[in-house]
Amino acid sequence: MRSSSGVAQAAAIIASLSLCFANGVSAVIGSGSSNFTFPENFMFGVATAAFQIEGAWNEGGKGESMWDTYIHKHPDYTPDLSNGDVAADSYHKYKDDIVMIQTLGVEYYRLSISWPRLLPQGTDNHINKEGARYYRKVLEELIKANITPVVTLFHWDLPTPLMDLGGWTNPKMVDYFEDYARVAFTLYGDIVKIWTTINEPHQQCYNGYDGDYFVPALNSHGVGVYLCAHYLILGHARVYHLYDKEFRPHQKGKIGITLDAFWAEPKDPSKVEDQEAAERYLQMRVGLFAHPIYSETGDYPALVREVVNNNSMLQGYARSRLPVFSPQEIEMVRGSSDFFGLNHYTTFLMSPSTMEKGWFVPSYDHDTGVRMDQDPNWPIPGSTWLSIYPAGFRKILNWLTKQYGADVPIIITENGMCDWGGINDYERVSYYNKYLYQLLLAIYQDGCNVQGYFAWTLMDDFEWKDGYTSKFGLFHVDFDSPEKTRTPKLSALNYRHIVKTKKIDFNYIKQSKYLVNNL
Ligand SMILES: *[C@@H]1O[C@H](CO)[C@@H](O)[C@H](O)[C@H]1NC(C)=O
Ligand SMILES: *[C@@H]1O[C@H](CO)[C@@H](O)[C@H](O)[C@H]1NC(C)=O
Repeated sequence: MRSSSGVAQAAAIIASLSLCFANGVSAVIGSGSSNFTFPENFMFGVATAAFQIEGAWNEGGKGESMWDTYIHKHPDYTPDLSNGDVAADSYHKYKDDIVMIQTLGVEYYRLSISWPRLLPQGTDNHINKEGARYYRKVLEELIKANITPVVTLFHWDLPTPLMDLGGWTNPKMVDYFEDYARVAFTLYGDIVKIWTTINEPHQQCYNGYDGDYFVPALNSHGVGVYLCAHYLILGHARVYHLYDKEFRPHQKGKIGITLDAFWAEPKDPSKVEDQEAAERYLQMRVGLFAHPIYSETGDYPALVREVVNNNSMLQGYARSRLPVFSPQEIEMVRGSSDFFGLNHYTTFLMSPSTMEKGWFVPSYDHDTGVRMDQDPNWPIPGSTWLSIYPAGFRKILNWLTKQYGADVPIIITENGMCDWGGINDYERVSYYNKYLYQLLLAIYQDGCNVQGYFAWTLMDDFEWKDGYTSKFGLFHVDFDSPEKTRTPKLSALNYRHIVKTKKIDFNYIKQSKYLVNNL
């Protein structure tokens, strides 16, 4: 497929999309549409991350990321004993990826730059020319295809030499991140007009520093997690101001951060303590990062400050485990984002708890003091953490708007669903329809200022701790084939239809009896 022209490739993929279609899917175009149409210049896109798709872990002068190093040392980290060495091989197949993006009809592609591919040591004294050329080619190819790149600087693949210095627990990381960002802005800022600094700092700090679910698996319960949060926030703000002062005047782009937020529902909505638990969870999880950046006053939320201070004192610490911003830092961080990048997937039910199985003291969970349950009525088509509750999407959008106002636009930088595979992904079709419908309600009925939406993800990829077992892609990837063959799923067809019509048609793809019997 790589040797044929882009147009021919697009035609082939569209033909295979129609093939799915001819396979017995009942499609009723035009009926069952929702009443709302997405705004005229609403940004539709798809998202990926370098480590999850690129592979080529030691090619083209790339240095090691902490994920490379850690998984090579712990080959049983993933259930399928896999790693990111080859992944979807997008390093070599990026042109195919771009054709896939074109067939979806979206105008935006959110991708990340691998820090160690650009700076093998993590520091800016040595720029890897081949890595620099690689991203230049990808970005130019996107522009040629009329797809606007949205570039994430840090999507978790920290260069190993910087992890060896303590990663984000080290204040010096703020300087290194600024230096890396300067290289990226200098190399690509002429054609990249939308940047996000950091992807999901909560996931990075909670799963990687407080616990061991993600690399670097520090298990620095209740301590490393807040250092990580603190220096990621400062790193983000430093990079924002670097762009704002030195690059924006001539490059004229936008820059923000991507935060992740589950919705938190009180387990028993009539109980005040469950309502408080849900609010405390949201402040600890979302407010920890959002309040310093998006609130009028800046700094950590008062509740978070109080909870961690109190627990630290009770535990015999002379100072709070949550670091303190100086007044200058509060001002530097406040307002340091042109948009609110939101990744949303699921909802949990919250009730107060002082101790649960698996919690440590101290720890972020213990500080939060919230037990998280799932509603047994909500479907879980794949990984256990992701149950489907579409209304939660509208609720988190409303919560954010209430907390931080509607002036800063929200861009959904990720939303999607995982299953265990298959091309006929009706559940994913339904997930996208229902979640996007809630998004429309948030825009038109609630006045939430949402300006864009990126589906997670373009194709099946290396899903961190899940390896290749859980699938989020609009395109299926055959990881057993040397070509890493990509095939569109029904959800790709459905998303293309939404993007084209700017409407959700709940009847566009429906499971037919015929197909079920033939699976
Ligand atoms: C669309 O509008 C009609 C008429 O106002 C209403 O009866 C119907 O419930 C609406 N449908 C949806 C999906 O909102
Ligand atoms: C923190 O401790 C103070 C003093 O004991 C108490 O008044 C306050 O309610 C505590 N706050 C929280 C959130 O636990």
